[in-house]
Amino acid sequence: MRVHLPEPEATAIVPGSFDPITNGHVDIIERAARLFDRVVVGVLVNIEKSGLFTAEERVGMVQELFAHEPRIEVASFEGLLVDFAHRRGAGVVVRGIRAVSDYEYELQMALMNRRLAPDVETIFLLPKEENSFISSRLAKEVCRFGGDTGGILPPAVAERVKQKFGGRS
Ligand code: PNS
Repeated sequence: MRVHLPEPEATAIVPGSFDPITNGHVDIIERAARLFDRVVVGVLVNIEKSGLFTAEERVGMVQELFAHEPRIEVASFEGLLVDFAHRRGAGVVVRGIRAVSDYEYELQMALMNRRLAPDVETIFLLPKEENSFISSRLAKEVCRFGGDTGGILPPAVAERVKQKFGGRS
């Protein structure tokens, strides 16, 4: 029997809410860029949930951080992630897993995406240990109450979050 394998994938999507992008996200995007020729960061436009930042603001912050990297593109998307992946010619979705607690949610999403689009593979990457506890939610909370977000948020992002909370630092 001969096994026929598809061509290796050159493009990966790193999807998320990125409200806002954290050092944990940056870590995963950089890791994806080491593995794939082209990385498309997909910023979800969530019509049900309004975040701290608009989709345009979230896209803008990610774009600023990776402006020097032509292999990393940033775009917002609505609707199904797998449709976005198809539109962008990506056969891989990359997600970061921090702790076991992330696994169940990620497993559900990955299997649902596989059911919807068997040609789109999900892979999980681990962040650096020091980024394993970072989440956008906690980063916003730290910022809101004047805590130090060094090592948690890129400085320009921390500045924007502080501005949203009335410039308190
Ligand atoms: O950063 P997040 O909020 O954990 O990212 C979640 C995201 C954007 C990856 C997920 O909500 C998503 O893919 N939404 C698009 C809708 C979709 O495709 N749903 C079906 C598969 S679960």
